[in-house]
Amino acid sequence: MNTVRIGLVGCGLFGESHMRAYQAVPGVEVTAVYDPAEEKAKEIAQTFGISRISSSLEDLCQDPAVEAVDVVAPKEKHLEPVLTALRAGKEVFVEKPFATDLSHCDQMIEAADAAGRILMVGQILRFETKYVLLQQDIQAKRLGKIASMHARRNRLRSLLERYDRTHPAMDSSIHDVDLMLWYTGERVRRVRGFGRRATGRTTTRSGESWNSKAERWAWWKPSGCCLTRPASAWTTPCRSSAIAAWATSASIRAA
Ligand SMILES: NC(=O)c1ccc[n+]([C@@H]2O[C@H](COP(=O)([O-])OP(=O)(O)OC[C@H]3O[C@@H](n4cnc5c(N)ncnc54)[C@H](O)[C@@H]3O)[C@@H](O)[C@H]2O)c1
Repeated sequence: MNTVRIGLVGCGLFGESHMRAYQAVPGVEVTAVYDPAEEKAKEIAQTFGISRISSSLEDLCQDPAVEAVDVVAPKEKHLEPVLTALRAGKEVFVEKPFATDLSHCDQMIEAADAAGRILMVGQILRFETKYVLLQQDIQAKRLGKIASMHARRNRLRSLLERYDRTHPAMDSSIHDVDLMLWYTGERVRRVRGFGRRATGRTTTRSGESWNSKAERWAWWKPSGCCLTRPASAWTTPCRSSAIAAWATSASIRAA
């Protein structure tokens, strides 16, 4: 079996989660890590026994021991590592959300096309069995025509402090929006969003101010015929998620 040699960019909470996943997959080796906060790179390298700590993004991307770059940097900082990696001829996996600026998405897609390299966004639910089974039912037309879809993706109150920096539409609901686009195979026509600031706190990070996202809801309309509602609350004591589709012949739910 060929071994895929990975360079990890971003050694925070989810970078560590990726490292654990790589350790569990045969044929994958993480050969280098980079984080602008050097102590984080050192910590992850020590925990997972990685010998190379790259001194810069460029250093990691030019490293011949790295075949594919895994970008697990904060959501608003995906552009530079993705472009640098693609221009260095590496395959790229980038965490969701792809970007927070549409022009960044366009630039990354163009760079991948120009380089002829894989650029994959971490919309991971398309690989989770229960969601795949639902997609197969929809594709085989076992449910009839979908009229509406609802989803909830609630997260632990204890994670609010860390992820308060990200709007829930981009953070948790983006997974359900991705599933809804996959299931309907159609593009979004109209969007309305509703939120409730249950805690009333304001958080400022990286020059952006957010009112606490303790609870928010959004309604999206992916096509002319299907109304969808992804919702997300961050005040719950335990995590929970479910997606349901109401169709002309049957209704189905994955939880
Ligand atoms: N798929 C999921 O369910 C899921 C869950 C959690 C996080 N994520 C995604 O993972 C990414 C990282 O989130 P996290 O929770 O690990 O955040 P985090 O804050 O814990 O870690 C981010 C790391 O990136 C580093 N960093 C900062 N600027 C950088 C740059 N310019 N280049 C490279 N690294 C940089 C930071 O020093 C930090 O170590 C985000 O895109 C987030 O949306 C996905």
